[in-house]
Amino acid sequence: MNNDAARVAEALGLGATKRHIFLCVKSSEQACCGGEQAAKSWEHLKTRLKQLGLSEKGGIQRTKADCLRVCVEGPVAVIYPDGIWYRHCTPENLDRIITEHLVGGKVVESLRFAGPA
Ligand code: FES
Repeated sequence: MNNDAARVAEALGLGATKRHIFLCVKSSEQACCGGEQAAKSWEHLKTRLKQLGLSEKGGIQRTKADCLRVCVEGPVAVIYPDGIWYRHCTPENLDRIITEHLVGGKVVESLRFAGPA
């Protein structure tokens, strides 16, 4: 392949993706996941994944979602291919999710609200 998308995919390490986390960061102040908390959580997630060498060819992809349709107990996140859904994704809780689930492959049961047990 020799095109722009293939070059970007190579730079992002898409072919080596092990897990992909989607975090709701709906920006509306009224949204359950919204406002400052969600923005802080997103910035924290991006920063920590980069610091740990997990994003950009480290096997973990991250995507900011506008709404994951749960809309309570946010910020909400889902990790694929595991299909595990997490609530209360504060920066502190994201650290646990990163270490225990994204790296260690072990679900953080106290934060999981849906998906295979
Ligand atoms: S606003 Fe976050 S899931 Fe809907």
